[in-house]
Amino acid sequence: MNLIDNQRHLFDIPDEVAYLNCAYMGPAAKAVHLATLAGAQKKRHPWTVTGDDFYSPAAHLKSLAAPLFDCSADDIALTPSVSYGAALAARNLRLKAGRNILVIEGQFPSNIYAWQQLAGEQMMRMTTVRRPLDGRWTEAILAQLDERIAMAALPQVHWADGGLIDLEPISDRCAELGIPLVLDLTQSLGVMSFSVQRIRPAFVFSAAYKWLLGPYGLSYTYVSPEYQDGQPIEYNWINRRDSENFAGLVDYTDQFQPGARRYDSGQHSSTVTLSAAIAALSMIQEWGVDQIAATLAEKTRQIREMAHSIGYQSVPEALSGPHILGLTGGPEDRAALSRKLAAENVWLSVRGSTLRISPHLYNTGKDAERLISVLSSVT
Ligand SMILES: Cc1ncc(COP(=O)(O)O)c(C=O)c1O
Repeated sequence: MNLIDNQRHLFDIPDEVAYLNCAYMGPAAKAVHLATLAGAQKKRHPWTVTGDDFYSPAAHLKSLAAPLFDCSADDIALTPSVSYGAALAARNLRLKAGRNILVIEGQFPSNIYAWQQLAGEQMMRMTTVRRPLDGRWTEAILAQLDERIAMAALPQVHWADGGLIDLEPISDRCAELGIPLVLDLTQSLGVMSFSVQRIRPAFVFSAAYKWLLGPYGLSYTYVSPEYQDGQPIEYNWINRRDSENFAGLVDYTDQFQPGARRYDSGQHSSTVTLSAAIAALSMIQEWGVDQIAATLAEKTRQIREMAHSIGYQSVPEALSGPHILGLTGGPEDRAALSRKLAAENVWLSVRGSTLRISPHLYNTGKDAERLISVLSSVT
């Protein structure tokens, strides 16, 4: 596969900044920033905001997000956050009584708290798959996925170090058990291929502001057709049938818009948010997810090799997402190391004792060298 040339020129990242922290916050590309300003301009001149602005941009954005999930645009709801999506799922999932909810150790809290709450309400327990010493999450999860489980709530990679979960055998096992699979793909959608046709999840969430290079305050929520007749967690006007007819808004109706639109959050059609997200997903569509994955795999491979040569360890490449590199080893004082990295304008995240390095297409070989040079200088 052809790798994508460096795309730094599309971003506003000064040469002296080595930003290796997309898993924390994706930067707005220049085009995304301009789109944000164009969206804000509408608010400055509200007479330019048309009725259509409440509907068409959201529909356009969903049509750009749909290929990332391999679903129809109708299956996507626009929500403000992953936690909102998880609350939606918790409200609507139909679970077998007396069983447990399966998650993995150290999973991101927005994909935990909703399930703890649900478990409390439905007298269920949490089953937490412990971090496997050999890094093989898939096998560790499968070992605990049995008749005692009511649902599994998982990611595709561990957010702290990129540890990979092979969703296919897990989804097969969930299907055998007749239980729903719920996924938080915030740390993988847009950089790893995914398909709801293959994985058949009940709900999928993905925040827009990291690997999807979009705005903060937006998350894509996939809802499988099986759950598209459920209850939203808020009741707003725009999700009701015929809301397009503003003159008839107080002809109140029990009917919702079709598909997952009943779950769109109130005020999801913010012109600022939608313009930015449309610009961001258009770029991702142009690059192609498989090409992004292959290119980022090469970038993390180079950094992995250099880091190993100075005494760091990592999750083996085969057990890791292509875009996140978790490094262990090096100095114990992580706070001091973080300060040194920041002072040198090298940006990554420390999660536990792991250094999480997460490049995107704007990162250059020079960024990698600067990282390694700082790591080598601190013992
Ligand atoms: C895996 C994962 N899920 C979700 C989020 C964000 O959650 P929320 O949208 O609820 O703020 C993050 C942010 O770091 C994350 O890493």
